[in-house]
Amino acid sequence: MSTKSPKTYSIKNYGCQMNVYDGERMAELFDAQGMIAADDKNDADIVVLNTCHIREKAAEKVYSEIGRLGKTSRAEGGPMIAVAGCVAQAEGSEISRRAPTVDIVVGPQAYHNLPQMIADVTQGKRAVDLDLPGLDKFSQLPPKRKTGASAFLTVQEGCDKFCTYCVVPYTRGAEVSRSWSALLDEAKALVDSGAKEITLLGQNVNAWSGEDDKGQMQGLDGLIRALDRIDGVRRIRYMTSHPNDMTDGLIAAHGDVEKLMPFLHLPVQAGSDRILKAMNRSHSRDSYLRILDRVRTVRPDVALSGDFIVGFPGESDADFEDTMSLVRAVGYAQAFSFKYSPRPGTPAADMADQIPTSVMDDRLQQLQAQLMADQTAFNTQTEGKICEVLLERPGKLPGQLIGKSPWLQSVHVLAPGLTIGDIVTVTMSESGPLSLKGDPIMRAAA
Ligand code: 5AD
Ligand code: SF4
Repeated sequence: MSTKSPKTYSIKNYGCQMNVYDGERMAELFDAQGMIAADDKNDADIVVLNTCHIREKAAEKVYSEIGRLGKTSRAEGGPMIAVAGCVAQAEGSEISRRAPTVDIVVGPQAYHNLPQMIADVTQGKRAVDLDLPGLDKFSQLPPKRKTGASAFLTVQEGCDKFCTYCVVPYTRGAEVSRSWSALLDEAKALVDSGAKEITLLGQNVNAWSGEDDKGQMQGLDGLIRALDRIDGVRRIRYMTSHPNDMTDGLIAAHGDVEKLMPFLHLPVQAGSDRILKAMNRSHSRDSYLRILDRVRTVRPDVALSGDFIVGFPGESDADFEDTMSLVRAVGYAQAFSFKYSPRPGTPAADMADQIPTSVMDDRLQQLQAQLMADQTAFNTQTEGKICEVLLERPGKLPGQLIGKSPWLQSVHVLAPGLTIGDIVTVTMSESGPLSLKGDPIMRAAA
């Protein structure tokens, strides 16, 4: 059966910022084909679910969404359904078996082929592309142009670290770095389109390396310094990093590149050396803490962020207490914490001594209570500080805009006359666990 080519699209992203970036690239690819974003996602001719496989819960959400979308067949006016992202990569044939209403299954390194895949579906075929060809997609996608005040820029993809719990090395493939010139060109285009802040993205963003325009090998710090020299770039951030790739140069950049914001997301996952070893993290509790000390030495006000997993197989009460004591020692400004989720095909899924859910629930509750208390304390101690806020989106109240402080806190600003994209100097006040108020500092008329 052949069907009409879709004219309107809707893309739903799950999971990490990399998926948000990929979703933006897919949208620009569809725009270049003459398609338009659907006003109402329920009316789209094609729906792309850009999925996450990191934990079971994230993956399961996709199947319920497919069920909902598939209730109306295409013959009855239902949408073409495409599953993209890491669930597609990990479960390719399983998706077709579990959800026959899915028309397209496309992995995170193959979505530049979507136009051809859509054409195949209109000819009555199902389309599956799970190639992991490294950087091909970047050379084949239309150049990235659309952006908000804060833009994501993927510099590196994939992971060679093989932490024993993690699917990323299998779903995103090996570590590959995009080229110096492609990245600087994209950064300049983003700035020309209105971006003030650029967040460099990668599963192991600080593993980025490449030759600069003089043929010298550079690491992420070199790239950050090159971005610093672009006039319109006002703020630079990067995530997510691995402790083993925190080079001397990158730590130094935190001290002397003014546009590099005082924020570091550096996951540790656990505080016990025994568990870190079983996780194959290849750093220790102490080596991690030493890195944070060095960053704090060059940038004393740096806000620290991390990721944690509780209930990794074999985690004893004493191991968990090591995580709690590390957390208390660091005082994170914010953090993400998760219950361990066994992922098919990863070594940890087959390890003995899987931890009962009730124990994981208890530990997660304790950990999150501590993290929330630390986050609240961090926000409280920024009260009274004067800083710049980049306004990114409208708030709920009339005339209210929401932006980010240098320390990545959400700041609510009531200031008639300001618009999204403005950088406003405020005094921070009224802190809560999740946000602060920013009172604009009125400049005296000249
Ligand atoms: N179970 C729970 N959390 C996980 N993460 C990665 N894999 C798993 C898993 N199997 C977490 C890690 C990582 C973040 C992106 O997701 O903390 O840093
Ligand atoms: Fe997963 Fe570890 Fe790679 Fe991070 S470093 S993406 S947790 S394997």
